[in-house]
Amino acid sequence: MVLSSNFLLLCSLLFFISSTIAQTSFRPKALVLPVSKDTTTLQYVTHINQRTPLVPVKLLVDLGGNFLWVDCEKDFVSSSYKPARCGSAQCSLASSKACGGNICGLGPDNPVTYVGTHGDLGQDILSLQSTNGFNPGRVVSAPSLIFVCGATFLLEGLANGVTGVAGLGRSKIGLPSQFAATFSFDRKFAVCLSSSSTSNGVIFFGDGPYVLLPNVDVSKSLTYTPLFINPVSTASGYFLGDPSVEYFIGVTTIKVNGKAVPLNSTLLTIDSVGFGGTKISTVNPYTVMETSIYNAFISAFVKEMGNFTRVTPVAHFGACFSSKGIGSTRVGPAVPQIDLVLQSKSVIWSIYGANSMVQVSKDVVCLGFVDGGVSPRTSIVIGGHQLEDNLLQFDIATSRLGFSSSLLFRQTTCSNFNFTSN
Ligand SMILES: *[C@@H]1O[C@H](CO)[C@@H](O)[C@H](O)[C@H]1NC(C)=O
Ligand SMILES: *[C@@H]1O[C@H](CO)[C@@H](O)[C@H](O)[C@H]1NC(C)=O
Ligand SMILES: *[C@@H]1O[C@H](CO)[C@@H](O)[C@H](O)[C@H]1NC(C)=O
Repeated sequence: MVLSSNFLLLCSLLFFISSTIAQTSFRPKALVLPVSKDTTTLQYVTHINQRTPLVPVKLLVDLGGNFLWVDCEKDFVSSSYKPARCGSAQCSLASSKACGGNICGLGPDNPVTYVGTHGDLGQDILSLQSTNGFNPGRVVSAPSLIFVCGATFLLEGLANGVTGVAGLGRSKIGLPSQFAATFSFDRKFAVCLSSSSTSNGVIFFGDGPYVLLPNVDVSKSLTYTPLFINPVSTASGYFLGDPSVEYFIGVTTIKVNGKAVPLNSTLLTIDSVGFGGTKISTVNPYTVMETSIYNAFISAFVKEMGNFTRVTPVAHFGACFSSKGIGSTRVGPAVPQIDLVLQSKSVIWSIYGANSMVQVSKDVVCLGFVDGGVSPRTSIVIGGHQLEDNLLQFDIATSRLGFSSSLLFRQTTCSNFNFTSN
């Protein structure tokens, strides 16, 4: 009896030592996750392994999400789960101001339906693949990653099989900051969404290289623009005084075919109560614009389309055209170029046909932007279709966004990361 329990103790001690050694002897420089597009919901989805024993967890990718949350009500089994006691370091890192049953909590929410609830803060092991920027490498583990326990009803409206949300926001417990702290690398990450529903895009945590076949290191040729902090949280549930953890950029002018679209520039800045400005979202499938901006933009685009035949708008799109006679280029349909002018006249995020137009049927293409209504919280929300096959690097420490513009110009795409391990 005594012998066997000593033996068990010894075994677990050896296991503890060996896993500690394994962790300290290999320090990844970056991590990699595959991202797929769910064709039914147009949501971007990833997988992370969590818990003991490890299970794959399918998650919605939410660029502006505060933290990782998973459904802990259904099928959550883990011998390594630890709730965060009120007053603990984890609770203060998470800025939690709620306590129930001596466990502190936060408000997990569904960014698609805007439904939120209260959830316990906890920690568990999470594992994913490291990368040298070229291929995935060894699997590494974050032994006590902070996350929030959500509820089953919160999953409604999310892609089939999704059981949580991977929050990539700029909070201290957002996945980018936690991975950076766990593995001692820069608080940087890059998102490259694939336009294909059959091959994966990629998220890198840490610095480049970010190499896409055929051997294009996208980290070497990025254009940079400042990221802005909205002083008022844009989440559905938050504590008064919390800033937004979302990523805002400073669009100053929108051009179509080089001509400025007349618009109320006040709407492009974030005001003192947190309204206005431009943010980037992986949850909105298409870019959403405040009504007056949208109308001016649509008119300008239609005008520049000249003689192409306009057809009845489809679904929520405001401008659709017969695709007959529209030529095709390396960067998609040959349509007027859209420029988002940033901090100076020479810093421009250009959007070409592949990112502006949506093929809605064999003969019809629509401008893939939607009307966000009058007085929305944020004037422009750049959505998934406009981000695809563009690599975006978010540098949280220096508040800077690096963007590649369309990778199609460089004969690569976001589905060209070589996911074969070496
Ligand atoms: C521009 O937008 C701001 C913010 O919504 C509004 O207060 C102002 O009246 C608008 N200006 C014009 C000329 O419409
Ligand atoms: C539109 O059609 C008219 C008449 O055929 C032609 O003169 C004009 O150049 C065309 N405009 C564009 C933008 O193609
Ligand atoms: C992908 O990476 C693997 C492992 O390094 C390598 O064997 C393979 O040739 C690469 N594929 C391409 C298309 O370069």
